[in-house]
Amino acid sequence: MNPNPSKLPLVLITHTLPDDWMAALRGRLRAVIGPLDATSLAPELEAHLADAEGLFCLLTIPLRKGLLDRMPCLRVISNMAVGVDNVDVAACTARRIPVGNTPGVLTDATADLTMSILLSAARRLPESAQDARTGHWKTWSPTGWLGADLRGATLGIVGLGKIGRAVAERARGFGLRIVYTDTSPRPDVAAELGATFLSFDELLRQSDFVSLHCPLTSETRGLINEAALRRMKPTAILVNAARGPVVDTAALTRALAEGRIAAAALDVTDPEPLPPDHTLYSLPNCLIIPHIGSATRGTRRRMAEMACENLLAGLEGRRLPYCVNPQVYEDPFSSKETGS
Ligand code: DGY
Repeated sequence: MNPNPSKLPLVLITHTLPDDWMAALRGRLRAVIGPLDATSLAPELEAHLADAEGLFCLLTIPLRKGLLDRMPCLRVISNMAVGVDNVDVAACTARRIPVGNTPGVLTDATADLTMSILLSAARRLPESAQDARTGHWKTWSPTGWLGADLRGATLGIVGLGKIGRAVAERARGFGLRIVYTDTSPRPDVAAELGATFLSFDELLRQSDFVSLHCPLTSETRGLINEAALRRMKPTAILVNAARGPVVDTAALTRALAEGRIAAAALDVTDPEPLPPDHTLYSLPNCLIIPHIGSATRGTRRRMAEMACENLLAGLEGRRLPYCVNPQVYEDPFSSKETGS
């Protein structure tokens, strides 16, 4: 028997996504869908905030308390991303709204992309390709477009989570020495990767490449600031495929313009996108690409499918398979310290 469509839960889907990625949702809900390129909550969605029971969103839509307060019926948020820094998770937890994400599935794609931009910056591909295209390639030049050597160089990984580890695995194949920093040492995984734990400052001092793989939190916002950049080697290359605000953009612009570090390769920026006339775009030692770490066909499709699984579970009152705030499932009245 087909359910009465008017009884199906109302869900806001912030962006138009390919139908076949969303096939699992067919006939299970009523959806109001925003445009493919929405950069904020579309007006047609705003109009349904009060009735929506589910929200399927992308990392570009900030979900802060003020917005959540306008959604009294909300029972689940499904973010099609592994990072959930766009969501006020604490506010959701306080309201016992489970928040879903898409862990694991984008690890390989993001690690591959990290290595691509690290290698591109190391071997100066953007500059040399531009020179070739604009007629500056006169002959094979023994001293032209010299880049960095990889074998024996040190790669400093900031955040040895899934993506940081996948980058380390790949980097070993290039003969890089791996050092890492994290909130605490990870001897279990580090031993397998031959990675050495260092303090953040020591990692900056020793690394030829610094690659960021930490989540954006209040602790990591602005981690790569003026002082951190001054600790890096003048030959160092900074790689960011994590979140833009982990790096202080103004400080990085100065460091690159003054040649205090050699180059940067950025998949993410702050703000995102950068305005097209931003100085960083004019610096030949800065490679900027538009947040495409997870942009492979298979990865994006799987991310959407996982986000659909989370959404349906939440609407049906089941536990989300990929949930960032499982505390919402704890019994609020159970306490180990009952004193009775
Ligand atoms: C994520 O899922 O957090 C990534 O940044 C998407 O590429």
